[in-house]
Amino acid sequence: MAENERTDDKSGDSGGKPQKKLRVLLRTFGCQMNQADSEVAMGIIGESHLDAEFVEDRDTADVILINTCSVRDHAEQRVFGLLRELKARKQKRPKRIIGVMGCMAVEYKEKLFREFPHIDFICGAKDIDKLPELIDDASRNIQKAVITEEGYGVHEGKLALRKDGVCALVPITHGCDNYCSYCIVPYVRGREISRPTEEILDELNYLAEKGYKQIVFLGQNVNSYGAGLKTKITFTGLLKKAAEINGIELIEFMTSHPKDASDELIEAMASDPKISKHIHLPVQSGSNVILRKMKRNYTREAYLQIVKTLQKSVLDVSITTDIIVGFPGETDSDFNDTIELMKAVPFDASFIFKYSPRAGTEAHKLPDNVPQAEKERRNQALLEIQNELSAAQNSRYIGRAMKALIVQKSRKNADEFLAVTWNDKLVVVPGKGLALGNVIDVTLDELSNNTFKGTVTAIGSKK
Ligand code: SAH
Ligand code: SF4
Ligand code: F3S
Repeated sequence: MAENERTDDKSGDSGGKPQKKLRVLLRTFGCQMNQADSEVAMGIIGESHLDAEFVEDRDTADVILINTCSVRDHAEQRVFGLLRELKARKQKRPKRIIGVMGCMAVEYKEKLFREFPHIDFICGAKDIDKLPELIDDASRNIQKAVITEEGYGVHEGKLALRKDGVCALVPITHGCDNYCSYCIVPYVRGREISRPTEEILDELNYLAEKGYKQIVFLGQNVNSYGAGLKTKITFTGLLKKAAEINGIELIEFMTSHPKDASDELIEAMASDPKISKHIHLPVQSGSNVILRKMKRNYTREAYLQIVKTLQKSVLDVSITTDIIVGFPGETDSDFNDTIELMKAVPFDASFIFKYSPRAGTEAHKLPDNVPQAEKERRNQALLEIQNELSAAQNSRYIGRAMKALIVQKSRKNADEFLAVTWNDKLVVVPGKGLALGNVIDVTLDELSNNTFKGTVTAIGSKK
């Protein structure tokens, strides 16, 4: 987390000494969209009159903000658990402010106050700009919920307080129009809206000037970028414009919906040296019956065709996916179709989820009839297959020379850096002579836990 200067005063009370900063702790659950929102939230609070600093220590925080996720019950239970824990702490320290933001704020709204009266404010995902005001009100004991459900939201990307100076998350669309039958996202994030191209490019130019090298374009379905904008542009068009910006070296993007993953995109991934060779392409299921019930709008065959084109066109392409097991009515035979699909597609990684019914979604009307133990068994079975796939995929790269970007200092060893290849493989390299943001040529020597160790052969290459 980005840190402003810290005070040493741990007492938690202001006490008349040099003005004490407002200590704000922001806990983020959920996806990268939430992470990006949290960065903007910190930027907005940091620039406001509040004189805030961001801390990680729960005991001394004056304000605890929780940016929440509704996607599965498990994510919500973690937040409810945290809120229960904070109740006891609030009794000990009544002046502490507790705010809930993000997707659960939109899902439950004021209802959260009923069960957790110690929450001071609830702030919708499109209302981040109101956080300083909400914190002010809370300090005057005004309990408030501000939730805007539709519209453009807040895009103060230039204000975002980003973790490091190399990689920047940049949302390009907000919301989702796909209404997959199991998914709550369209209900909590609203209709899909594309950010104007000029605004995104302006932010990228600003980031490039600040020395950022890696951009991650975010959207629930990045491939539908441009729909509804006055100036016609496709997602690939945006990628190409971004790639023209000097200083930006690597452009990643997620998530790609298979129904909209175009040949144009694959061709750009294949040919543009700045565009990532990794695609996150959630398949969700290998069964056409289940895909139809999920309202995904593609078939297993169409998905396999995209994979084939990717493999044929994009050198060293890496494909990752999301899979849901135990969707209502998923039979052994449906599940077997998913296993067969995994055997046919060498996914580099997959995120496997047990179906979790979400109130208000279409699938919620269907009986959640795959027993929990069976969901667990299917989950485990796919994890085992994936572990083998990841090991097999990664071992292909041992001994290979690749291009990579230095993105982080190693947490384990101060003399080492972490680099990411253009197909999203992590490589630990000795740090001598290197700096964050360097593009390197690296030979991948060995592999442990899906991270490579490598030898740097050149620094500063651009291709
Ligand atoms: N927009 C992205 C991801 C959205 S949520 C996409 O379309 O792929 C991330 C993942 O959570 C989804 O891909 C899906 O696999 C999973 N997910 C969403 N709703 C779920 C639910 N009700 N139960 C279990 N997993 C779910
Ligand atoms: Fe949810 Fe489907 Fe939209 Fe992804 S594309 S956010 S799974 S509704
Ligand atoms: Fe993301 Fe969870 Fe909301 S996945 S969009 S934080 S429901």
